[in-house]
Order: sequence, then structure tokens, then C-alpha cells
Amino acid sequence: MLLEETLGLWITRPDGLYVDLTLGGGGHTAAALERLSPSARILGVDRDGEAIAWCRERFAAEKRVEVVHTRYDELENLLKERSLPPPDGILADLGVSSRQLDSAERGFSFRFEGPLDLRMDPSRGSSAADWLSRASEGEIARVFFEYGENHRSRAAARCVVRARERRPLRTTGDLVQALGPVAYGKRRNAELAKCFQALRIEVNQELASLDGLLEQAPRVLAGGGRLVVLAYHSLEDRRVKQYFRDAETWELLTKKAVQGRTDPNPRARSARLRAATRR
Ligand SMILES: C[S@@+](CC[C@H](N)C(=O)[O-])C[C@H]1O[C@@H](n2cnc3c(N)ncnc32)[C@H](O)[C@@H]1O
Repeated sequence: MLLEETLGLWITRPDGLYVDLTLGGGGHTAAALERLSPSARILGVDRDGEAIAWCRERFAAEKRVEVVHTRYDELENLLKERSLPPPDGILADLGVSSRQLDSAERGFSFRFEGPLDLRMDPSRGSSAADWLSRASEGEIARVFFEYGENHRSRAAARCVVRARERRPLRTTGDLVQALGPVAYGKRRNAELAKCFQALRIEVNQELASLDGLLEQAPRVLAGGGRLVVLAYHSLEDRRVKQYFRDAETWELLTKKAVQGRTDPNPRARSARLRAATRR
């Protein structure tokens, strides 16, 4: 199971200090605690206030866990502020959680009618609706192309601009309707998924955040400490793969990405797990 493989790579000493940069529902942290001794510690991070509230409650009685509401590219500051020693292992399980995807009010999925928001931290930045109301057609096309890897990006952007000229796009349903001319028939769901993924990456600045984390990781990790990353789409996975090629800094633990294709957990099936030890 991918969970077991992830824990095997992330947790090396029962009494170590570990960072879970993407707490979500707290699944990885809860499973890690079972392998850790009473003197171990986990610093858990998420940018999503709902995930943080959930995990504060879930781990309320657990002295080994500290839950922090921030972005993972704040890692270096976070460790400094707490005067913590270099961690033994850092885990980043990238992307969105099933809780976020399944919550209509967050607007992450074209399957549910809801506000067109798509922010992981709705207390900061602009919603997808705001961004789409002011971005130029060219910018929208670029985002659909680069972050959705969508070859119909220009046509999709044109649909959005035509629709917003009639009335603002406020809900997921408004966007689905606007994209109707490019997302129909057998292609419908694939096209919509690409456009929603692209918007999500843009409004959350996901790739910039990942780059910030990757830049800091070698400075903050203990020598012999590990960085473990689970990616769910090729844009992120390619970045991580390329990054770990720096053999002066990293000793690869996964020559090829470990894939969860046959995992009982459906979400794990699209995951690609890569890990390396800081030299
Ligand atoms: C795939 S889920 C993690 C699931 C978690 N490992 C579990 O076991 O439940 C990804 C989580 O990462 C969070 N996230 C995404 N980008 C982030 C960032 N830049 N900083 C902090 N958290 C982020 C999301 O809010 C989401 O809760």
C-alpha cells in the first residue's frame, strides 16, 4: 500500500522530529504516530483553515503534534521561530484533499454547484471568479495551457471571455456552462477537469509554493534527513523528478516514482511518490 511505502520512507527514527507539510485530514500524521515513541514530535502544516480546525480537534490530546496554519513554503521561518532542530523527515502530499474536492461550497469540483472560489485558504488572495473577471483572454489561455496542459486552451479562454461579457461567472455551474462549446460529449469531463485544475493551480500559486519549498528543503533538513513528495499530476511530478537529479545534494531513495495504481485507496492510484535523503 502506498501509505505504508510513504511512512517507510518518511519515518526513520522512532524519536525523531518530522514535518507533515500537508496535514489535510491528518491521515499520514495519525499513521506515523503509531510508529513513533513518546518523545517524537510532528509539526503539521496546512494552508486550509478547515483542515487545521479538523486536525486541532483530531490531535487535541496528542502532545507530540503541533498544528500550524500556514503555507508550506513558510517552512524555514516556521522552524526558526520555534528554534527547532533540523527535522529528520519532511512529507509533502501535494494538491487538494478529498474533503476539499467533495465540498460544494469550496468550488473545487465541476461536479457540484457552488461558488467559483477554488482557494485552499479563502482568507487570502483572489477567488477563481475574481481572477476570471479581470484576466485577459491571453492570460486565461496561458493558464489553461500551462497548468491544465490543455491543447484547446485558446478556444476555452474565448468561451470564458464571451460568457463573462454577457454576465459575470460566479459559480462552478456558470463556468461549466461557459465552457460548453469546448467541453461536450465524451470529452466533457476531461476538458472540465483540465480547466478546473488550471484555475486551482493559478489561484493558489501552487507551483510557486512548491518551488519555494524545494528551495528551502536542503537548508532545513538534517544531514541524512529525508524529503518525501507525493504528486498527483505531471506538472508537479516532473518538477520533483528534475529537482532530485541534483546528486550533490540528494541521494535518491526511489529510482522510479512509486505508483499507487492498484492501491485500495482510489486517490492513491494517481499518486507518484518520490523520496531522497539529504547528503
Ligand atoms: C492531498 S491533501 C493531504 C492529505 C493528508 N496527507 C491526509 O493524510 O489526510 C493536500 C493538503 O495540502 C494542503 N496544501 C496544498 N498546498 C499547500 C501549501 N502550499 N501549503 C500548505 N498546505 C497546502 C491542502 O490544503 C490539502 O489539505
